[in-house]
Amino acid sequence: MADSTDRTASSKQEEFHNYRERIKCSPEEEARSEKQHFWNVINAFKYYRTHVHERVNRAERHFRCLPDHHQKLLPNFLPNLSKLRYCIDRNQEVLQAIVHNCIHMFENMEYGEDSFLKEDPRKVRPASTFDMDKLKSTIKQFVRDWSEAGKAERDTCYKPLIDEIQRLFPPDQCDVSQIRVLVPGAGLGRLAWEIAHRGYSCQGNEWSFFMLFSSNFVLNRCDEENTLTLYPWIHQFSNNKMSSDQTRPVVFPDVNPQSLPEDSDFSMVAGDFQEVYTDPDIWDCVATCFFIDTAHNVLDYIETIWNILKPGGVWMNLGPLLYHYENMANELSIELSYEDIKAAILKYGFELELERDSVSSTYTENDRSMLKYLYDSVFFIVRKPVDQLINGDQTPKDGQMEDSLYTGNTEGKKT
Ligand SMILES: C[S@@+](CC[C@H](N)C(=O)[O-])C[C@H]1O[C@@H](n2cnc3c(N)ncnc32)[C@H](O)[C@@H]1O
Repeated sequence: MADSTDRTASSKQEEFHNYRERIKCSPEEEARSEKQHFWNVINAFKYYRTHVHERVNRAERHFRCLPDHHQKLLPNFLPNLSKLRYCIDRNQEVLQAIVHNCIHMFENMEYGEDSFLKEDPRKVRPASTFDMDKLKSTIKQFVRDWSEAGKAERDTCYKPLIDEIQRLFPPDQCDVSQIRVLVPGAGLGRLAWEIAHRGYSCQGNEWSFFMLFSSNFVLNRCDEENTLTLYPWIHQFSNNKMSSDQTRPVVFPDVNPQSLPEDSDFSMVAGDFQEVYTDPDIWDCVATCFFIDTAHNVLDYIETIWNILKPGGVWMNLGPLLYHYENMANELSIELSYEDIKAAILKYGFELELERDSVSSTYTENDRSMLKYLYDSVFFIVRKPVDQLINGDQTPKDGQMEDSLYTGNTEGKKT
């Protein structure tokens, strides 16, 4: 007779066996939760100031608990907190500008109004720690993608991909405007923008509202270099060598995002990569950067990429395997080694063209911090053969046939 542990195990198994179906609910429910999520993210942008001021107030309270003679040893402590408060308010101004009018950002989705804000649109409710952490990461993402300070990082992450696109589709040997490149999980859009800037037809895809609001702001509403300022490191209270490191500004954008060639074909599409991209044989190149580990099951991503690439098309990938769902309760997470991923890719029928298994790369690094993470990333290029020997399952899954609720080109993008 099975004991209760067995029963739990088998019901869990069932749940995850149908994980694609598990996340589906009725279209009405899905639309409702999508709208709620949209408003929660906007609320998080507005709650930022209160949240971070509370953190600084805590630092002040703790300081004031110190004996007088200790406080006197630290004459710069309170002035630094005042600087932090100034920086928080400046960050809030930028965040406010980012979410200004973003209700009209999506072409094919109406988000109505937040029931909480009905009486007073200026009202802000406390946001979750999870959302505030996402917002702080988004602020750091501006450094990676749109500042001079992020150039070194972009050179390690984006440049290898861009160089290979130019090698495989040389501008002097083909009409690059006819080469269709897709960048799934595009973040704030710099990689996709750089590819479009070189004349390729390029589409970025992203599903996080934090990223979508922010990329929409830079790509569509910024048109002058280095005119905006963020203070991305103020949330870091540990590992600062100098107090002023915490409050140093970063200006952006380091390029004019409107400086794409006249006839360029650049778009950003919102939605889940697997749900949006179901049409087969469309793309000449799929470029993934720090993306494949965002999957519940990376094999789903491989399958989608195989399906959407034209025969003869290439998939290039650079990044680590820091599985996003690994530590999330009730979320399916298949953590594969690179060795296993590579074997699966080859079994699909992809042909390996290039492999570098040790590419040092950073992600939103604070270059003055006493703690830094260095990823030993893999970089590979595989090709879907012109004559396909199909080993993988190419049948579109039910879950991939549904349109994403917030799929759509974002405002004013060149398409
Ligand atoms: C680690 S970030 C990398 C962003 C960007 N490629 C870069 O290198 O800066 C992964 C991005 O993928 C996005 N993402 C995760 N799952 C996605 C999905 N299923 N469809 C589209 N985007 C997704 C996340 O919102 C996040 O912006």
